[in-house]
Amino acid sequence: MKKSIIIANWKMQLSFQETKTLAKEILNRLKKVEKKEKKLIDFDLVLCPPFMSLPEVSKIFGPKKDILLCGAQDCFWEEKGGFTGEVSPKRLKELGCTHVIIGHSERRRILKETDEMVHKKVKAALKAGLIPIICVGETRDQRDKGLKEQTIINQVSKALDGISLKANQKIIIAYEPVWVIGSGWAIEPAEAGYMCKIIYQRVIDLYTLPLVRNNVRLIYGGSVDSTTIKSFVGQEIIDGVLVGGASLKSKEFIKMCELILK
Ligand code: PGA
Repeated sequence: MKKSIIIANWKMQLSFQETKTLAKEILNRLKKVEKKEKKLIDFDLVLCPPFMSLPEVSKIFGPKKDILLCGAQDCFWEEKGGFTGEVSPKRLKELGCTHVIIGHSERRRILKETDEMVHKKVKAALKAGLIPIICVGETRDQRDKGLKEQTIINQVSKALDGISLKANQKIIIAYEPVWVIGSGWAIEPAEAGYMCKIIYQRVIDLYTLPLVRNNVRLIYGGSVDSTTIKSFVGQEIIDGVLVGGASLKSKEFIKMCELILK
């Protein structure tokens, strides 16, 4: 069984100070949970704050760096050059990032990120030694037209097109139905499991079985909270969750971590 993973996507929701406070609160509460449960955290926890808070959050995690990881919410596909406003994956790595979210539906929808751009970013992230968290998901309209499976297969195929995963490279694919994100209503865990199986099938066509088993994690995202996390992670194929709204409340977020620890 793969180690579970909880990824917190803080989007652009917090001030610089609020981000610092929340990261510290999470760290302190986690230490208490470990004491209470008499068990060390045995899953990965990745916090993805806004870019400018990454050095600070990475510093806060200091001694717990093996479990508390830092991720960025996006990166550019080039390492260096005249790309005003963009962020190099190499520099993210230098800042202490281990993960980077790529192709989140908000970027695809609002910033018009295409599958081609997602593909280039995945490639660049891997090259920089980061673990890309590749977000895929169907819109409500695609779902209503019976196109959810096809949409997901296309997005996964295009993101990974021609990328030969090396033994030391890992990827995470997050199935996030677009219409569920931020809605307060998660989909049925069994349906998320079904969609992850489709993703697994596609990935198995691209890479060898041992590589998929060891280097690819499939997770679910979309309105997950403490009432639903267990049932998502309880699906055999789902290795973790990507959490937006519920990760902004330290008490609720720690409750979710506690449930995974038990
Ligand atoms: P949500 O966000 O948990 O608030 O639905 C998830 C995401 O945007 O990744």
